[in-house]
Amino acid sequence: MTFAHRHLLGIEQLHPTDITTILDLADNYVTLNRGASKRSDVLSGLTQINMFFENSTRTQASFELAGKRLGADVMNMAMQASSIKKGETLIDTAMTLNAMHPDLLVVRHPQSGAVDLLAQKVNCAVLNAGDGRHEHPTQALLDALTIRRSKGRLHRLSVAICGDISHSRVARSNIMLLNKMESRIRLIGPPTLMPAGIDQFGVEVFEDMHEGLQDVDVVMMLRLQLERMDGGFIPSPREYYHRYGLDAEKLAQAKPDAIIMHPGPMNRGVEIDGTLADDINRSVIQDQVEMGVAVRMAVMELLAQNQRHTNGQAA
Ligand code: NCD
Repeated sequence: MTFAHRHLLGIEQLHPTDITTILDLADNYVTLNRGASKRSDVLSGLTQINMFFENSTRTQASFELAGKRLGADVMNMAMQASSIKKGETLIDTAMTLNAMHPDLLVVRHPQSGAVDLLAQKVNCAVLNAGDGRHEHPTQALLDALTIRRSKGRLHRLSVAICGDISHSRVARSNIMLLNKMESRIRLIGPPTLMPAGIDQFGVEVFEDMHEGLQDVDVVMMLRLQLERMDGGFIPSPREYYHRYGLDAEKLAQAKPDAIIMHPGPMNRGVEIDGTLADDINRSVIQDQVEMGVAVRMAVMELLAQNQRHTNGQAA
């Protein structure tokens, strides 16, 4: 098992074999997590600090549970983005925490690039739990694990990512991962929510859901990231649902066994029909949450191994 990275800042830095290493190890953790005893001691004696400068339910809970199941001492810092003067305060906070000798720092921040900056200032492993609209690597990895377990592979699949692409770090990380693993990506959404120059990322772009969903294996829906918009991106939630919300009629264009994904939090009746989201024959949304814990356990184990090597301790 080789994984030569000090931090997990993005999918961009990963090689396809790194991705496979993480997913293979995560498969073992899915088994562990389904058993009666969910404990391992691979992070025993290590300290994990979670710093979330932006709201989060599943990502934070998932990282916390992952660390605890691996035996780490886990601390959650309550940080509120609104009260923070970004740049300066972030570095100050990082230096303060660094002095407490954490081994793993899990960071979510509203500014793209903030987590990379922080990683340069500390000597522990830093995991990006989402930075602005830049990257959300563990989300793309858990999505990949969900797809791989459902479809049996990650290559030569046709994956549609639908909705608010331009504000979405989930979309960015997924596009990079799926490209590296040689799947075909279709982006579907209104032009106002499509980043400029996106066609250079090796993707196909569609404005129409019926056209874009044609024969895809995977339908990944995204939340409208209203907190990153300053108006004028969509006509109205109702009109948006009519054109881009996933319902049974639009889904009928996809392959009969196509799976439905959503990173959450979900806005029922805006980007997805509630009944479809709950349809256990099509929707793997709850599997994504389950895979999230396993993927985070795998990544933290791999990074902790490297930390131990760096610090000259027994691995
Ligand atoms: C996503 C995020 O925060 O980027 N949520 C998540 O981590 N599961 C997507 C979103 O907020 O819409």
